[in-house]
Amino acid sequence: MELEQLEQTARALVAEGKGILAADESDGTIKKRFESIGVESTEENRRAYRDLLFTTEGAEDYISGVILFDETIRQSSADGTPFPKLLDGKGVIPGIKVDKGAKPLALTDGETITEGLDGLRDRLNEYRDLGARFAKWRATYSIDADRPSEYCVWTNAHALARYAALCQEAGIVPIVEPEVLQDGTHTIEESSKATGRVLQALYTELHDQRVELRGSLLKPNMVLSGYEASDRASVDDVADATLECLYRHVPAAVPGIVFLSGGQSDEDATAHLNAMNAKGPHPWQLSFSYGRALQAPALKAWVGKPENVEAAQRAYYHRAKMNGAARTGMYAPEMEKEAVPA
Ligand code: 13P
Repeated sequence: MELEQLEQTARALVAEGKGILAADESDGTIKKRFESIGVESTEENRRAYRDLLFTTEGAEDYISGVILFDETIRQSSADGTPFPKLLDGKGVIPGIKVDKGAKPLALTDGETITEGLDGLRDRLNEYRDLGARFAKWRATYSIDADRPSEYCVWTNAHALARYAALCQEAGIVPIVEPEVLQDGTHTIEESSKATGRVLQALYTELHDQRVELRGSLLKPNMVLSGYEASDRASVDDVADATLECLYRHVPAAVPGIVFLSGGQSDEDATAHLNAMNAKGPHPWQLSFSYGRALQAPALKAWVGKPENVEAAQRAYYHRAKMNGAARTGMYAPEMEKEAVPA
């Protein structure tokens, strides 16, 4: 394993003012996103949409890397340039989602285990040859009186660590993504407790399985009150609770923490990240690896029409720029108004 190389890539992904675009929606997820704008999920529509994002001029000032899906890493831009090559040419690092999704965890009532370890060594080698330099694996956990169970916490931690070790063996930076889902009515304290348990188990397994933390990144949820909770925590409270949880459970050897947006509004996701960075400096870079929070306005502007590509690119560029500002605590909600020239 070339640890220096892994660390260099991990650090480049969390370079100042930059973060990651998650464009690795599986077939099922992109179908849902397209349904929300009345667009059919054909291979060409998926290609055209990703092309629009990846060719947005100037986005590379705020986007360090893009997570691709298996289909996308094999697709090309309209002029025939393979997507990984196109991104690389702009100084944007190509990455790949390698998990095969969260499946029912046997003998539980609705908890999940993420699958995809069988054959992963070979798939990683192929993805590396296709240009991927980092990867992502997502595990999910729910919060209620009995969840997440210790069983769910530890089986997913074990699988995340097995994935991370295989990535490093292949010379690929693993992003480990334990997502404690923030749906429901839980309090911010309950979210903190569940997130802390999940992170503690994850770093125990990563350590036991010999993963070099300085060649890895963490992609966690923020600590929020449940989306359906009656009394929701403020931006400042979310920043404090999330930081406290991370300080307790994430070793300083980890170069960066790249949050998922997880169903927050795009502006909330930006404001929360900004508030945390404004309270810095921290031992790790705090950045973003957003899917919905970077793409939602672009999808809405596009609605599948070629004549809307430019408007969609402006919308995406704007969100990338706002999150770039949040990387250094320099974002202010007023900046939203300056936005998106027609
Ligand atoms: P969201 O930011 O939409 O949660 O997506 C990030 C991601 O990659 C989920 O795995």
